[in-house]
Amino acid sequence: MGVLHGRVALVTGGASGIGLASAEALAVAGADVVVADIDSDGGAAAARRLAGLGGRAVFLHVDATDEQHVADAVRRIVSDFGGLDLALNNVGRGELGRTVTTTSLESWNAILGLSLTSTWLAMKHEIPAMVARGGGVIVNMSSSAGVSPQLTASPAYAAAKAGVAHLTRYAARQYADQGIRVNAVAPGITLTPRVEQWFAQDAIAEEVAGSQFIGRAATPAEVAASVVYLCSPAAAMVTGHTVPVSGGVR
Ligand SMILES: NC(=O)c1ccc[n+]([C@@H]2O[C@H](COP(=O)([O-])OP(=O)(O)OC[C@H]3O[C@@H](n4cnc5c(N)ncnc54)[C@H](O)[C@@H]3O)[C@@H](O)[C@H]2O)c1
Repeated sequence: MGVLHGRVALVTGGASGIGLASAEALAVAGADVVVADIDSDGGAAAARRLAGLGGRAVFLHVDATDEQHVADAVRRIVSDFGGLDLALNNVGRGELGRTVTTTSLESWNAILGLSLTSTWLAMKHEIPAMVARGGGVIVNMSSSAGVSPQLTASPAYAAAKAGVAHLTRYAARQYADQGIRVNAVAPGITLTPRVEQWFAQDAIAEEVAGSQFIGRAATPAEVAASVVYLCSPAAAMVTGHTVPVSGGVR
């Protein structure tokens, strides 16, 4: 029986990339998994794949930047599954080729909304459900770009992901005495479909990988393994941290 057997997990942005790999890894570890995404086709396909791994799996159409969507999703999970134990708040996106002076206000607000505000909104609604259940575990998606300045990442993305790391520590401190652990993972460059497309268009792959101790991009499954660890009882004393999964980049 998997270490997460009987646990109910919510994965935002679970239809693709790191979210999909994490949803799969959580299912393999025994959790029932709810994939929340704006991509209905991809999300439904993900839920079908996960159901084949053993536990229950469903897709919910959720825009992680819309508070009503997030609140409804958590309410539905509690009523259909009996509660919420684990959450991976994974939605986020940057843009390429922007500097502090060439970022528009519109794009700044969009990236902060998608990458940082969505993380806070998710926790706002997940935490009361977890408290009602007697505890839970949250993993937020930061990035190595939020830990040290990487000029391939946009300033809005870097600031948002640094915000995710700090918000993670804040929430961990605030809710530790209610049985909730909150950590983040900070992946370096990871071979998701979006990044594969970027590498195909731009001769940047070697430059990016060359800045790491381990000179290659991570696989989504390698990031997912850290998510499962943080969700598991093996990490019972780990809270408030942002765990790098970045081949040595700080
Ligand atoms: N791929 C990398 O190299 C890398 C590195 C560090 C951090 N990250 C972070 O990991 C997370 C996942 O990235 P990825 O590369 O796997 O991305 P991806 O594009 O493969 O997947 C993102 C998923 O989020 C969904 N999504 C987008 N907007 C949404 C919204 N408003 N509400 C709900 N779902 C939404 C998309 O439909 C998609 O399924 C992001 O937060 C990203 O910033 C990625």
